[in-house]
Amino acid sequence: MAKASSLFVCQSCGATASKWAGRCDACGEWNTLVEEAASAPLPGGASPRRKGRKIELVGLQGASKAPPRILSGIKELDRVAGGGLVPGSAVLIGGDPGIGKSTLILQTLARLARNGERVVYVSGEEAVDQVRLRAARLGLADAPVLLAAETNLNDVLATMGDGQRPSVIAVDSVQTLWTPEIDAAPGTVSQLRAGTEALIRFAKTKGTTVLLVGHVTKDGQIAGPKLIEHMVDAVFYFEGDRGHHFRILRAVKNRFGPTDEIGVFEMSDGGLAEVENPSGLFLGDRNSSTPGAAVFAGMEGTRPLLVEVQTLVSPSTLGTPRRAVVGWDSSRLAMLLAVLDTHCGVGLGGYDVYLNIAGGLRVKEPAADLAVAAALVSSLTGAPLPAECVLFGEIALSGALRPVAQGEARLKEASKLGFKTAVVPKAATTEWKKPPLAVHAPDNLMGLVRWVQSFDPNGRKAAPLPGEGAKKAWSAP
Ligand code: TYD
Ligand code: MG
Repeated sequence: MAKASSLFVCQSCGATASKWAGRCDACGEWNTLVEEAASAPLPGGASPRRKGRKIELVGLQGASKAPPRILSGIKELDRVAGGGLVPGSAVLIGGDPGIGKSTLILQTLARLARNGERVVYVSGEEAVDQVRLRAARLGLADAPVLLAAETNLNDVLATMGDGQRPSVIAVDSVQTLWTPEIDAAPGTVSQLRAGTEALIRFAKTKGTTVLLVGHVTKDGQIAGPKLIEHMVDAVFYFEGDRGHHFRILRAVKNRFGPTDEIGVFEMSDGGLAEVENPSGLFLGDRNSSTPGAAVFAGMEGTRPLLVEVQTLVSPSTLGTPRRAVVGWDSSRLAMLLAVLDTHCGVGLGGYDVYLNIAGGLRVKEPAADLAVAAALVSSLTGAPLPAECVLFGEIALSGALRPVAQGEARLKEASKLGFKTAVVPKAATTEWKKPPLAVHAPDNLMGLVRWVQSFDPNGRKAAPLPGEGAKKAWSAP
């Protein structure tokens, strides 16, 4: 009996099923199963089955040199890549549609081309004229970038393999590529995987750097870049809030460098501009006299980044009060609220709590706990925190304050930006010989709460806070 020649592949998670279903069993997404050919031959000449040959096994020590880098000259990108692009590597640049991926790629290629590199831009999404218009608007029309609008993978590979080897190729986007050998529509999982694999093989054999643009998709009808993350050497996500003008390039995987690095750009009329001092950008339009705001001295990779944490605590009329969080982990907020309630008597059970990281940034560090807690208490008491003060440190479930890594870099950045005081866990201060700014180090969370309270505009020093446990905590002399 002939085997079934097609499979149903979930476009969201890549799981396969032999039958169509409305909902993917693996990831639970609806309407994502699409019929695709079961075992399509790979383009670019994947060899048919042959007898195995002996391979040479080698030791870990060897004479391989550190890979040389191609510097794009865009410092933010080079840093994220770990000091420049690596020849022969495949890099995925993912992001939401419209975030600025094509702009970044075009600017990078133009820079490289002006530096004398041979670069090719394969646009599957925009026509040649559209790309040219954009280049003209960005003032890059004179850069010797080789441009093609093409989606057929075989044609792309044939063109690249012919003549002088390009040092960088960008494919925008990899989801538009298709090969006739595979019996599936462009944008499906099999087409995406086949296209990526062929381009990676091309990169490895020719030593060309391949930049793959991938759209993050929400509805599951087009296979997303997550499905090819494991195949490529590096994965950078370009993120940002459409309502804000800055964009962050974040390395989530990098075989040739650190993965916690970010590059900050600002989207302007003239394209993407590098931001050398991101803290200045994120604190730019700060109004320091409002209660509920605190400045967190964070780290993004090796780079300190100061951001403002904004909170609003207001009496709730709902049975279950609202907790709305933008830019931070909402379960972390729930945890902090519980710790504040249990250990400090700051009960926020009857309040709606809103938390926002200014500028649309996403903070992932637990080190932001201290700033969030201070901002919450400040909003509750109406006491603004001192304007020239930064905070960082982790809060344990016990109410203890824990030091975090890279404290000195955080202090240095804060001092550079004119901050005068840092509020940190006591345990952190023992390592610092001569901190560049005044340090206030409370013993525990209660100490932090009292410190915030001391700025009460009405001078109600240690006045009872509203909430369940208020009595026991605030009756102390
Ligand atoms: P684009 O690079 O096309 O996004 P992607 O390739 O990720 O889909 O960027 C599109 C957005 O960027 C668009 O909304 C307009 C904006 N933009 C500017 O604000 N300034 C510019 O100079 C350019 C080229 C784009
Ligand atoms: Mg684009």
